[in-house]
Amino acid sequence: KRPAGAPDAALARPIQRVGVVGAGLMAGQFALLFAKALRVPVTITDIDAERVERGLSYIRGELDKQVAKGRLRPEDAAAVKELVVGTTDKADFADADLVIEAVFEELEVKKKVFAEVEAVVSSECILATNTSSLSVTAMAADLTHPERVVGFHFFNPVAVMPLVEIVATEKTDDAVVATAFALAKGLRKTAVLVQDAAAFVVNRILLRLMGEIQNAYDDGTPALVADRALRPMGLPMTPFTLLEMVGIPVAQHVMESLHAAFGDRFRVSANLQRLIENKVTGLWVRNDDGSL
Ligand code: CAA
Repeated sequence: KRPAGAPDAALARPIQRVGVVGAGLMAGQFALLFAKALRVPVTITDIDAERVERGLSYIRGELDKQVAKGRLRPEDAAAVKELVVGTTDKADFADADLVIEAVFEELEVKKKVFAEVEAVVSSECILATNTSSLSVTAMAADLTHPERVVGFHFFNPVAVMPLVEIVATEKTDDAVVATAFALAKGLRKTAVLVQDAAAFVVNRILLRLMGEIQNAYDDGTPALVADRALRPMGLPMTPFTLLEMVGIPVAQHVMESLHAAFGDRFRVSANLQRLIENKVTGLWVRNDDGSL
């Protein structure tokens, strides 16, 4: 097991170029954050040009919104837009100091991505994963340099959630962990070092609450009722609203990992599984005006 503290900050290496694998909701959000907070070039990739373009337009759109709100100067938005480029070829990561992935939450998919990235990057390049619940140790197991792998887990919405969980395996190099902490600081996030255990710390706690609401839903309480019942509790977001924001399939994957690791405490919702199978993405718990 790793020690509880962060290693010596002096070991941290500079991050001057970032690669992001996946151009979906999470990846788009943190690609934007890397470019905006660190002002370093960020290259995003996905399985096809359409997905890459969708990721880039999300980033441009968010920057435009910030300009419209008066939060960002137009010239700064333009500079950040210049920093983010898209590609469908992972070979374009050759100069990256850090490549972070947020692809489909399945171990084999993530292992394949890391193997492909390792084939093109330098031996110093750090491979980070934004997995919410999978084993980082298993993800690194077949790589030539498993010591370069670290978990760097953001929360949704990335721009405002202050925490990052840094997951170090028994093999992760101290310099890699130190760099992850320095990176979190550069992104103005609070970092905690967590064990490589199913769903780490935050989701393990959060999903106890979410799981109990889902049990009520499975037992016949309508989603809207279960959600509304919790509104007076003063949570920043009620559980099903949060579930919609995170994405039902993503949350279900986290619950599956927790069920596999701690089956006595976590149960996978049959009702949510049916929604996923029917490609239903919402639970209709929003306010009448559509706001969350
Ligand atoms: N993207 C970017 N910024 C956002 C945003 C989004 N999706 N949603 C809200 N914001 C920003 C707003 O622009 C606003 O910023 P300004 O003050 O600069 O304008 C700020 O957040 C506050 O927003 P609001 O006043 O509209 O709303 P709020 O006070 O209700 O806060 C919230 C919104 C911070 C999202 C709050 O509802 C919250 O904390 N919700 C819980 C979120 C949470 O628990 N996330 C963890 C999910 S689990 C996960 O992600 C892990 C996983 O692995 C699956």
